[in-house]
Amino acid sequence: MNILILNGPNLNMLGIREPEVYGNKSYKDLEEYILSLESEYPIKTDTKQTNYEGILIDLIQFANDNYDAVILNAGAFTHYSYGIYDAIKSVNIPVVEVHLSDITQREEFRKTSVIKDACVNTFMGFGFESYKKGIEELLKGRENDDC
Ligand code: DQA
Repeated sequence: MNILILNGPNLNMLGIREPEVYGNKSYKDLEEYILSLESEYPIKTDTKQTNYEGILIDLIQFANDNYDAVILNAGAFTHYSYGIYDAIKSVNIPVVEVHLSDITQREEFRKTSVIKDACVNTFMGFGFESYKKGIEELLKGRENDDC
């Protein structure tokens, strides 16, 4: 399965940004962690990060023709971007929402995900492992498709 892993605004600041929330590991560490999952699961991944909403929308649309699925950590766009919600609804491939932190246990504004209903599932609060759970979900979905 070819999976595009997308990370939104400020995720490039991992390790520097609020380590008490997001941990001490860097964005490069996250990329390496995701790459290491390629030896554990039948997947090929490309991992990208952007601080720009429009680029995230372009990448979701691009994935439709070039990948089997998307794992999306939309960062703060999660909480207010109907443009990203519409982009996810526009594509025919599954999109899994992930977050490092548990957004339901943080500030009030983070408790709402406006993209949630467009995604096949959400994994949050497991740090880097949220991405792994997202991959497992996609592989499970593919097995069910084959039945
Ligand atoms: C985040 C949670 C968001 O609320 C926040 O804006 C982020 C990261 C997470 O991975 O926990 O940038 O998506």
